[in-house]
Amino acid sequence: MGIFAQRLVAHDFRSYESFELELDEGITVLVGPNAAGKTNLVEALQLLTAGQSFRRPSPVDLVRDGATRAELALSLAGDGRRLDMGMVSERGRRAFTRNGKRVPASGIRGVLPSVLFCPDHLDMIKRSASVRRAALDDFGVQLNESYAQLVSTYERALEQRNNLLKDRFAPRDLLSAWDETLITAGASVLVHRLALLERVRAHLVEVYASIAPRETVDVRYRASVGDIPTESSRDRDAVAGYLAAALAETREEETRRGMTLVGPHRDEIVFLIDGREARSFASQGQQRSLVLAWKIAEVEVTRDILGYNPLLLLDDVMSELDASRREAVVRFIADEIQTVITTTNLGYFTDELLRRAHVVRIGATEPEHEGGELG
Ligand SMILES: Nc1ncnc2c1ncn2[C@@H]1O[C@H](COP(=O)(O)OP(=O)(O)OP(=O)(O)O)[C@@H](O)[C@H]1O
Ligand SMILES: [Mg+2]
Repeated sequence: MGIFAQRLVAHDFRSYESFELELDEGITVLVGPNAAGKTNLVEALQLLTAGQSFRRPSPVDLVRDGATRAELALSLAGDGRRLDMGMVSERGRRAFTRNGKRVPASGIRGVLPSVLFCPDHLDMIKRSASVRRAALDDFGVQLNESYAQLVSTYERALEQRNNLLKDRFAPRDLLSAWDETLITAGASVLVHRLALLERVRAHLVEVYASIAPRETVDVRYRASVGDIPTESSRDRDAVAGYLAAALAETREEETRRGMTLVGPHRDEIVFLIDGREARSFASQGQQRSLVLAWKIAEVEVTRDILGYNPLLLLDDVMSELDASRREAVVRFIADEIQTVITTTNLGYFTDELLRRAHVVRIGATEPEHEGGELG
């Protein structure tokens, strides 16, 4: 069993005046030309499952041009439960509801988490380190209620501390006060990341092997404070000690450069294929396999932790994957994982998949071109 999304209703959200989407417990394919509103629906689903959107919109962006209030509702059901998630965006503010009651974003997360895979993620391996840290953190906040809080506490402390470091006349005891917050929150963030990455790694290695059996893959956390031995990685005090020592060591340089030089905000997540750093050595196809394996690993880690599958959102990625990687995706989805796939072209899917999927045409007013390019 598990929890499934059943029905999404949107009013004055993005390009939609009024729209209802029934979701299959298996696969729902949203097909339509460019700019039809497919990604808008994926975003709506992500907002009501992850409590955030990969587009990082301001609340105003979510409201349809010319309207004043956007509304979303998503009904979830399963395990004998019914839940209604809602979002309203009005007057520059966004608010979430759960069964009609106002909740913070954390009240939305963790019920039916979602894993999104979109073209933006395809070059995650070679982009800057912050992209990979964000991938891990965005995943982590869905699985642990307090993690989002920790990350924002750390970021706030970091900003304040950097401001003080830039200010030559700032009192030094103020800096020590922020050091404390930075170290406590930073150590917690590190402990969370290390544990989560370890869980992802186990699945990543396995999934990658099923996509590319002749290669071995690995992923490591490269902490800017230096090596954190595995036996200390779950001990917050020990990790705080490493962070404190590293801060003390870089203090002089920090003051000179006016910024905090060590801590979770400077860490790197390193992917290795056959022992070589994927960022500089992996081919385009290998990088895509890695990202695909990472996403599948996210699904599996969610299942390990919650006991049921997340909602899988595949926005426009099938066209970016070759036939064998597409097959790997389809094989993985099997029948159990509720999945929403967007595409401009049904030709990327096998007849077998289309037969069992619920296909919804988005914004298609012209005659249907089965299997042809709609865009
Ligand atoms: N707040 C808004 N009000 C009105 N229209 C909006 C708003 N936000 C986005 N749009 C429009 O929604 C349209 C559809 O966007 P969307 O990204 O969902 O298309 P898509 O079907 O995913 O297209 P593609 O296949 O190119 O990815 C865009 O033309 C965009 O301008
Ligand atoms: Mg799109």
